[in-house]
Amino acid sequence: MERRTHDQAQARVRNRRASTARTVTMLALAVGAALLLSACGEQKPYSHISPVTENARDIQFLYKIIFWMALIVFIGVQALITYTALRFRRRNEDRPEQIHGNKRLEIAWTIIPALVLLVIFIPTAQTLYDFDAAAEEGEMEIDVYGKQWWWEIHYPGIQVAGAQGQQPLVTANEVRIPQGTEVVFNLRSNNVIHSFWVPQLTGKMDVIPGHNNRLAVAGDAPVGEYWGECAEFCGAAHAWMRFKVIVEPRENFDAWVAAWQQPPPVDADPSTGDVVDVPPSFLNCIACHNVSGTMAQVAGQGLTADPKSQSAGPNLTLLGCRDMIAAGLLPNTAEGLKTWLMHTNEVKEGVYMPNYTEEPYNLTEEQVDEIVAYLLQLKPAGGRPPEQPVGGVAAGD
Ligand code: CUA
Repeated sequence: MERRTHDQAQARVRNRRASTARTVTMLALAVGAALLLSACGEQKPYSHISPVTENARDIQFLYKIIFWMALIVFIGVQALITYTALRFRRRNEDRPEQIHGNKRLEIAWTIIPALVLLVIFIPTAQTLYDFDAAAEEGEMEIDVYGKQWWWEIHYPGIQVAGAQGQQPLVTANEVRIPQGTEVVFNLRSNNVIHSFWVPQLTGKMDVIPGHNNRLAVAGDAPVGEYWGECAEFCGAAHAWMRFKVIVEPRENFDAWVAAWQQPPPVDADPSTGDVVDVPPSFLNCIACHNVSGTMAQVAGQGLTADPKSQSAGPNLTLLGCRDMIAAGLLPNTAEGLKTWLMHTNEVKEGVYMPNYTEEPYNLTEEQVDEIVAYLLQLKPAGGRPPEQPVGGVAAGD
C-alpha cells in the first residue's frame, strides 16, 4: 500500500516536471514569435511600425523603447516565477522558513520600476513638446471636422466658387496635401469625441468638441497615399470612419484646386433657381449634401450653430475625383455608389443617411441609377486631375 502511494507520488513529480518543461517551451516559442514579428519589414498602414516621416519615426522610437523594456520585464518576471516555482516547490510536509519584510528587496522593487518609467517618460515628454511646437505654425492649415461617421475637410486658405460667392474648399475623407508642405491640422468636432490618426505620418490626436487641437505633419512625407482612421470609439459606425491623406506633387495638387475653380458641368438656371440637368430624384439629397457652384448648396457645414451641420453629409463637389465613398467602406464606382444607395443602412450600420429605396422615399432602381450617373460625372471638364505617380502605400525606410 505504502509502495503504491510512493509510486503515485513519483509519477506526480514526473508529470509536474513534464508540464514545467512544456510551459517553458511554450514561453520560449511565444517570445520567439514576438521577436520574429517585430523583425518583419512589411508595410502596415494602420500601425506605428511603418513610419515614413521624421514625426512618425519619433513615435516609433518610443514604441520600440516601450516594446523592448516590456519584453525584458516580461522575460525577467517569467524567469523568476519559473525559478521560484521549481526551487521552492513543496517537497515534504515541513513549513518553509517564514519571512516578513525585506528592506533591500522592497527598495529594489521600488527603484527599478521608477527607473523604467523615467526611461520611458523623458523621451515621451520630449516628443510631446516637439509635436506641440511643430503645430504652432505651418505653411498650410487644414480644418478637420470629425463627424458621425466621416471626416469633413476644409481648406480655409483656398477659396473656390460657391453658390453664395467665394468659399473655402470643402471636401470629405480624402485629404490632399502638396508634397514638401508643412501642414497643421485643426481638429474640431461638434458632436462626440473622435481621434485623428494617420500612423505612417504623425501622432494620434483626439478631436474634442469645444477644443481646437492642432497636429502637424512635416513636409518630409514622400508622395503616396496614407490611410488614417478614427481611433476613439464614437458610436455605431466608428470602425468605418476611415480617411486617406494623399501626398502629391505640387502640380497635381494645383491641378486639383484649379478643378474646383471651374464651373460645375451641370448647374441650376440662375434666373429661376430651377435645377437643370440634375435628376429630380437628386433633390432628396440636397438637404444634407452640397455641390459647390450649383444650387445644391443648402446643407450646413463645419461648426455652425445650425443643427443641420451636425447631421449633414459629405460635400459632393467633384465627388468623381474621390477614390472611395462612405468613409473608406466602398469604392467610388457605379457599383459602389449603387450598393450604397440601395442598401445604405445594411452597408454601414447606424448611418444617419436613410435608405432612400425604402419608405417613405421609395426611390426606384432606375432613379438610383440616375443619381449614380449624376454623381460620377461630378468631376472637372478635363477629367479627373492626375493621380500621384506612386500608387498604394508608399515604401518606408
Ligand atoms: Cu469617430 Cu471613432
